[in-house]
Amino acid sequence: MKQPHILLVVGGGIAAYKACELIRLIRKAGMTVRCVLTDGGAQFITPMTLAALSENEVSTTLWDLKNETEMGHIQLSREADLIVVCPATADLLAKMAAGISDSLATTVLLATDTPVLAVPAMNVRMWQHTATQRNVTRLRGDGVTVIDPDDGAMACGEYGPGRLPEPVAIMERIEAALSFPSRLREGLKGKRVLITAGPTHEPIDPVRYIANRSSGRQGFAIAAAAAQMGAEVHLVAGPVHLPTPPGVTRIDVETARDMAAAVEAALPADIAILVAAVADWRTADAANQKIKKTGGALPALQLAENPDILAGLARDPRRPAVLVGFAAETENVIEHAQAKLARKGCDWIVANDVSGEVMGGADNAVHIVTADGVESWANLPKDQVARKLMEKIADAVR
Ligand code: CTP
Repeated sequence: MKQPHILLVVGGGIAAYKACELIRLIRKAGMTVRCVLTDGGAQFITPMTLAALSENEVSTTLWDLKNETEMGHIQLSREADLIVVCPATADLLAKMAAGISDSLATTVLLATDTPVLAVPAMNVRMWQHTATQRNVTRLRGDGVTVIDPDDGAMACGEYGPGRLPEPVAIMERIEAALSFPSRLREGLKGKRVLITAGPTHEPIDPVRYIANRSSGRQGFAIAAAAAQMGAEVHLVAGPVHLPTPPGVTRIDVETARDMAAAVEAALPADIAILVAAVADWRTADAANQKIKKTGGALPALQLAENPDILAGLARDPRRPAVLVGFAAETENVIEHAQAKLARKGCDWIVANDVSGEVMGGADNAVHIVTADGVESWANLPKDQVARKLMEKIADAVR
């Protein structure tokens, strides 16, 4: 098999020095790498450093006749299997989001259809600025993988999100990006996939509701992976603050009963993956007016059970050929998941231990529980869990 080739765009931030370590790791993994250094990047490290570590030429400008005749800027990106922007400064992210091409780096990034992985590093205020967050959302919508920066002490003396992740962690993301073989990019073409995600909110009165800690991240990552693999994806989402993944049809709902109706309306589907943390109970009678304090007497909440969407789908004559449920457990994870698999009548249960920081967190360690047994996966970022799961489902429906 051909060695993967990486085009590494090194932006102008103090974290540029960590790109040197990343080059070493890329080489150690048996890949080749060629660097493009921006003017800002060259203030922090030299072309000589990158050339020595990559054992390859380094490109710095569009206006270099020798470079342009030997390896034009279009060719630079074409020969790469993956473009990694590291560090991706606020300026580079803004230019990428706007499609500006005023340097070699930005021109290469605009002229390519090669997958791009951006690794931001900047001051915490710059990262949190509405403009940067807007650019990151837009880039993710355009299909660029933008890694979240780490939290911690920064070179500028401040503390918070904005630090470049450790090179080992970046390397894992590079390997994950490359492990998406082209056969899988079309792996779910022609399939209709129905996904539920997020919590549900069950009103108590017009201002209060019952909810849970689900962020929707895992379900949204699954929807994104399914769409990347060519599926027609319908995502029924509870109340969450997440952008809609590219190519996904999103139906926003609030309560479990709304979610059940939206799932019903989205049928038929070839595959359904119910990731939502549906509230098991709702208030039997939500008050029409805000409940007021009445001199010490506590209001009693009368609860009613919500419909079980997964179990309902398993019994439906239009049951999808592959029906996958999730199980959020805090103890005896596998035993509870096996019982749930039987009780709900689905094909697989993806079980996770939510006693730690899984709900709302970035990572997830899951067990795939089927009638044939249990497959346990290592702790992975939620987008990698999503991709692995969709690959497994694509294999099952093939
Ligand atoms: N689920 C559903 N409708 C419900 C409750 C759960 O569709 N009313 C689905 C979830 O989306 C998930 C699976 O069922 O795919 C398991 O959810 P979980 O909350 O773990 O299970 P429960 O049935 O609620 O069981 P328990 O709360 O007793 O663990």
